[in-house]
Amino acid sequence: MTKKTVTLIDDSTGREIKLDVLEPTAGPPTIDVRPLYKALGYFTYDPGYVSTASCASTITYMDGEQGVLQYRGYPIEQLAEHSSYLETCYLLYYGRLPTAAELDTFIDTINQHTMVHEALKRFYSGFRRDAHPMAIMMGVVGALSAFYHEHMNIHDPHDREIVAHQLIAKMPTIAAWSYRYAKGLPFMYPRAKLSYAEDFLHMMFANPTAPYTPDPKFAKALDLILILHADHEQNASTSTVRLSGSSEANPFAAVAAGIATLWGPAHGGANEAVIRMLQEINESGKPIEHYVERAKDKNDRFRLMGFGHRVYKTYDPRARIIRKICHDILDSETDGEHQKLLDTAMKLEEIALNDPYFQQRNLYPNVDFYSGVIFVAMGIPLNMFTVLFAMARTIGWISQWNEMMSDEKSRIGRPRQLYVGEATRDYVPISQR
Ligand code: SDX
Repeated sequence: MTKKTVTLIDDSTGREIKLDVLEPTAGPPTIDVRPLYKALGYFTYDPGYVSTASCASTITYMDGEQGVLQYRGYPIEQLAEHSSYLETCYLLYYGRLPTAAELDTFIDTINQHTMVHEALKRFYSGFRRDAHPMAIMMGVVGALSAFYHEHMNIHDPHDREIVAHQLIAKMPTIAAWSYRYAKGLPFMYPRAKLSYAEDFLHMMFANPTAPYTPDPKFAKALDLILILHADHEQNASTSTVRLSGSSEANPFAAVAAGIATLWGPAHGGANEAVIRMLQEINESGKPIEHYVERAKDKNDRFRLMGFGHRVYKTYDPRARIIRKICHDILDSETDGEHQKLLDTAMKLEEIALNDPYFQQRNLYPNVDFYSGVIFVAMGIPLNMFTVLFAMARTIGWISQWNEMMSDEKSRIGRPRQLYVGEATRDYVPISQR
C-alpha cells in the first residue's frame, strides 16, 4: 500500500515538502512534521497542544466525538463491569489481561511493597496541620526519590517494573497518611488481607482502639472509581510525567511533578471544585440559572466545574458510569444527607445541557462532575478528592513513563516557540535611562 503523504507549499517561495502521514490503529492520522524545520525553516504553532500528537502510544485510546475510552483496546465500560483496579493496573502496565495465577502473583507483589520507610513518616511532621493533602502527597512522593535513587537503573526494564510496583503499592499508604496527619490521627499500617480499596479505607478511617470493617459498597465504588481514573492518554499530568521522565529524571520525582499538575482545578482538582460549587449553589439561595449565566459571562472567571473537556465533545464515558454509582450509593443512604448535592448536580446538568451556550461549545459533564458526590457520601474529606485521583492515575503515569523509557528512540522533550519579544537592542547605561 502506498504511503500516504501531504504536501505543504510555501506560497512565498514556491518551495514545497511532502510530509508522511502516520496511520493509527484508531483515531485521526498524524502528519509527521519532523522534517519541516530542516526543509522549509518553519516551526509548527499549537499552544496547549490542541492538535499535536506528542508521542506514539499503545496504552489508551480516546475518541472525543464518540465518547470512547479504551485501555489497551478494552472498552472502559467492560473494564468497569468486570475488572478490578489491580487487574487494570496489570493490563495498563503489561499490555494484556493477566491469567488468574499472574494476577495472584501481582497482588502478592504489590502487597509486599505497601509499607514505606519509617523515616518517611518524619516528612509529614514538617507540614502544617492544615496543609493541603495534595501538597503533602507531592512532597512525600518526591521524597521517595531520595530513598530509591542510587541503585535504580531506569534503562533496565526490571528496575522500571519494581518502580511501578512500589508506586502502585505505596500511594494508598502515602495518601491515607496525608489525611491522618492533617487530622492528628495515628498512622494506620496497610493490611495484606484487605483488597486495595478496602486497605485504603482502613488506613483512612480505622483506629487502633477498635476493629474497623470497610463498608463493602464503598470499597466496591472506590475500586470502580480508581479504574475509571487510571489513565487518560496524554492529559496534562501524564504529559508532565513524560516530559520530566524524558530528561532521565528519577521516576518518583517525575510522578511528583505529575501530582503537582493534576492538582490544578482545570485538571484533577476539578472534583473538589465541583463540590465547592454545588455547596455554594445550595447555600446561596440563588437559582441555579444564576450560576449558569455566570459561567457564560466572559467577564466572570466562574466556570461550571466538572463541565467541558479538551478531548470529549460529548458525554465523558466515565461520567456516565460514575453517575450511576452515585445513584446506587445515595439510594442506599438512610438519611439522604447527601441527596441535595446530587439533586443540584442533576438539575445543573439538565439546565446546562439544554442551554445553547453549552450545546454550541460541546460542553458536557466530565469525570469530575459526579465523582465528588460519591466521595462526600463515603465520608472522604473535600481536600482528599484529588489525592484519590492521583492515587488512581499513578498507574497511568508510570505505564506511560515506562512506554517512553522502553523506546530506544526516545529523546528529551524540548518544545520550541514563536518569539514575539523585542528585536535585538543595545544595553543602555543606567545613567542614560
Ligand atoms: C480532567 O485532559 C484530560 O484527559 C483530563 C482528565 C483526565 O482524566 O486526565 O479528563 C481530567 O482534567 C477533566 C476536566 C476537569 N476540569 C474541569 O471540569 C474544569 C472546568 N472545565 C474547563 O476549565 C474546561 O472545559 C477544560 C479545562 C476542561 C477544557 O479546557 P479547553 O479545552 O481549553 O476548553 P476551551 O477553553 O477551549 O473551551 C471552549 C469554550 C470557551 O468559550 P469560547 O472562548 O469558545 O467562547 O468553552 C468555554 C470556554 O470559555 N468553556 C466553559 C467551560 N469549559 C469551557 N464555559 C463554562 N464552563 C466551563 N466549564
